[in-house]
Amino acid sequence: MMKNTDSKDFMFGVSSSAFQIEGAVQTGGKGLSTVDTRLVRPGMADTSVASDFYNHWEEDIELLRELGVKAYRFSISWTRIFPDGEGELNQEGLDFYMKVIDRLLSYKIEPVVTIYHFDLPQKLVDNYGGWLGRETIYAYEKYAKTLFEAFGDKVKYWVSINEALMVMYSKDFNGIRDLEGKAYERANYQIMYHMALAEKFAFKWCHELVPGGMIGPASPFQNIYPASATPANVEAAMTAEELLSFTLLDLSIRGSIPARIAYLLKKQGLYPETREEDEQLLLSESADWICINYYFSLCAEAYSGKDDSNMPPFFRSENYRIVPNPEGTKSEWMIFGTDPTGLRLSIYKLWQRYNLPLMITENGYANSDTLEEDGYIHDETRIGYLKEHLDQCFQAVEEGIPLLGYSPWSFLDSLSGREGFAKRYGLVYVDRTDDDLKDMKRYKKDSFYWYQQVITDCNK
Ligand code: BG6
Repeated sequence: MMKNTDSKDFMFGVSSSAFQIEGAVQTGGKGLSTVDTRLVRPGMADTSVASDFYNHWEEDIELLRELGVKAYRFSISWTRIFPDGEGELNQEGLDFYMKVIDRLLSYKIEPVVTIYHFDLPQKLVDNYGGWLGRETIYAYEKYAKTLFEAFGDKVKYWVSINEALMVMYSKDFNGIRDLEGKAYERANYQIMYHMALAEKFAFKWCHELVPGGMIGPASPFQNIYPASATPANVEAAMTAEELLSFTLLDLSIRGSIPARIAYLLKKQGLYPETREEDEQLLLSESADWICINYYFSLCAEAYSGKDDSNMPPFFRSENYRIVPNPEGTKSEWMIFGTDPTGLRLSIYKLWQRYNLPLMITENGYANSDTLEEDGYIHDETRIGYLKEHLDQCFQAVEEGIPLLGYSPWSFLDSLSGREGFAKRYGLVYVDRTDDDLKDMKRYKKDSFYWYQQVITDCNK
């Protein structure tokens, strides 16, 4: 437990994202985004209803109030504001989020708003190849500016882009379906580069339009240990961490790709196409804070050649091989194993490199939770996971790191990227399955009551 002096300002929060909870995909003037048009396995839930937050928002915000959080991290759906990603504004979309934000503020819950969380407007993909086209940079700029103009006097904390790393690689998110192999790999880095340029515009407008505002990216920080202490494995871990995490963060904060990674990308013919005028933009603005999404750690070993392991594509590389951390505690959905200390080490690494305030914007335990007949959900493993990770955060604060808060994933059970509603992270259970919408009733899990108590104790 943190000392009271430290805990008074600590932002205990909880997180979600629009496409994973809102539903109402064709309601209120919303346009379609890549996550709505992607092909979903037969029998798996899609975005059409999700957790139906769009229709339950008042009841759900009452739950946030009861939980006692000081912050709520959520994302705005780009296509609710601009159905085509650009062009005509949909006032009904802005009004919806205005109601949500006003209600949060009336309960003294700080909104932490993610501008873009995976849901790229499909029209931008159809018209410009999504992030492969420079037009998308300007569409994002206009969208972000619109949000600052509408909510800038109410929202202080902003997340520019959630997990750019996932957007680079996931075809479901970036919508690029016609490229494979080396051409797709090259596209991955072009997407990264264009997102970095777009983000600079968001920084610029936030700094101009939001008094006292803070903006920065949410990094899916990959804490990577050497598989053993051989120099070659140590180097593999350094390269992997640099490529998977620091390259994107350096672009956000320092305005350039780390020298060694630039060298590797050039050697492999993967370096993005740049324009001379980009440099000024990249160096003109920087993030004010770093948001960390952390679930597990990994190991790396020296390797060269084509990585044909069954790791997700973004973990595969010609420069190293990613392997699971043998020390991690594995379970049904936490297949890479959990590692609470890795969270504190990630915090230290980010603080050492960037010296910026930090916030944990995602950290959570996936489970196939069961609703008991008496209406309870006993999720003690999740409680154990959250407690151990929160303790690491408290230790980091005690040791002097400016960690502003902890906002676990997730508030409600929501649509998981590839596993629908089979895999649940919420503190609140949503009574639906992948193929049966049931009544969408909300039930507080044991972890909800546990977190509520933690917040109460820290506020004493
Ligand atoms: C993060 C994302 O990568 O991980 C969330 O920002 C996502 O949107 C979370 O839900 C958990 O991933 P998954 O695939 O298990 O739902």
